[in-house]
Amino acid sequence: MVSRIIPVESFDLIIFGATGDLAKRKIFPGLFRRFLAGQMPNDSKIIGAARSNLSQNTFSVLVENSIKSFAEIKFEKNDLRDFLNCLNYLQIDAAGAGGWNELKKALRPEKIRAFYFSVSPLLFGSLAERLHENEIITANSRIVVEKPFGRNLETSKQLNTILAEHFTEDQIYRIDHYLGKETVQNLMAIRFGNMLFEPLWNAQYVDHIQITVSETVGVGDRGEYYDRSGAMRDMVQNHLMQLLCLIAMEPPARFEPDSVRDEKLKVIRALDPVAPHHIVRGQYGPGSDHSDYRTGVNKSNSMTESFVALKVSISNYRWAGVPFYIRTGKRLEARKSEIAVVFKEKPHSIFGPEAGNHQNALIIRLQPDEGITMDVTIKEPGPGGMRLIDVPLDMTFSETLGIEENAVPDAYERLIMDVIRGNQTLFMRGDEVEAAWAWTDPIINGWIHRGDVPKPYDSGSAGPQDSLTLLEREGRKWREIL
Ligand code: BG6
Repeated sequence: MVSRIIPVESFDLIIFGATGDLAKRKIFPGLFRRFLAGQMPNDSKIIGAARSNLSQNTFSVLVENSIKSFAEIKFEKNDLRDFLNCLNYLQIDAAGAGGWNELKKALRPEKIRAFYFSVSPLLFGSLAERLHENEIITANSRIVVEKPFGRNLETSKQLNTILAEHFTEDQIYRIDHYLGKETVQNLMAIRFGNMLFEPLWNAQYVDHIQITVSETVGVGDRGEYYDRSGAMRDMVQNHLMQLLCLIAMEPPARFEPDSVRDEKLKVIRALDPVAPHHIVRGQYGPGSDHSDYRTGVNKSNSMTESFVALKVSISNYRWAGVPFYIRTGKRLEARKSEIAVVFKEKPHSIFGPEAGNHQNALIIRLQPDEGITMDVTIKEPGPGGMRLIDVPLDMTFSETLGIEENAVPDAYERLIMDVIRGNQTLFMRGDEVEAAWAWTDPIINGWIHRGDVPKPYDSGSAGPQDSLTLLEREGRKWREIL
């Protein structure tokens, strides 16, 4: 299947932090893929800005290398040359005066201006201030900011206030890259594009919901950042929270930015506080090819969690009494993100108790192997009575839709194009981020208060035993990660 490409208007994109890791791994390769797809017009201008004193040529080579390493796409030499022609480099001092005049001169008055703050949040304020002082912000300007958006409610409020001094909310694009994933958007299509599911999507029919985001990687070379964050801040407050919102929200009246974000916000505000016995934290041990968490972050007494599992409840009409079990962790047995909606048992079995218990489940696989599976109960073939078995009705999107490998845009390329189009549906609004922190803070503060020690778990396992117990004591079971 060939997807339809609608080119965006030509633009000026300024990337602050252009020599950083995110720019190298995601932003430049993503832009190049959109350029190749014909979505980014070739009279667009990309200005890389950073503190280092680099020549244009050195910067071009840097971007070329990042494309060769991370774009994962075949291309002709000419394509790369044409893309690199859209690029400029400017040495800019985020906190000082250097480079701003040159930036002002390089920008075209009539074009869309997007400023990508791919830098530490500590610099957001001075960048916004410098852009303002130098009169670079036009009505057609927008800024893109990355997570972490604060580390608690207070700091996220401070960031929102700083940005609001110079930008209106509809100019601020807060990225949560999970929202840019194809299958995460599919959650909305599955729920609101089919008659089949929505009538069953409530406490009357759903027994519980499981959300798993499991990774095989460890903290890698981000030990310092990660140890200050932990799984709760790094994954739950943002990515898993967004998945929870998309699964639990009411149908928005329209697929429009504020309609969708209003509904997500209502879910976050309806979340109950989480009781300590509904939280499991873990920290991974050594594996055959890597050291344990504490060695990895170079802190022998670290109390930071690399795994967390929670039982979450939503106090609203639709979901009262339905547990949402969510878990995420590093160094687990497989890379797998999925959501399982497990339906209730039938009120009565006409086949008698010997037919056993059977629950339908809808499993939405986010990555890898994107697709959906519906567990359906059927008769076991053969004579000898009515024995029932559960079988999967399975659809893998790439097979069904004939999608070639690498043809689906990566989350970042889609999100950057949305910034240019001015579509905020897949970006977090300020009040949404604050509400997510307001729910997360007491959980984190609670375990700091209690001096909670994360449970060790074996690398390559499904996480600490207590995580399994969290469901087992309620007569439920996590789906296998492997
Ligand atoms: C990032 C986290 O936001 O998401 C990382 O900081 C995590 O720790 C990553 O590994 C997971 O993203 P993905 O797209 O690989 O599922």
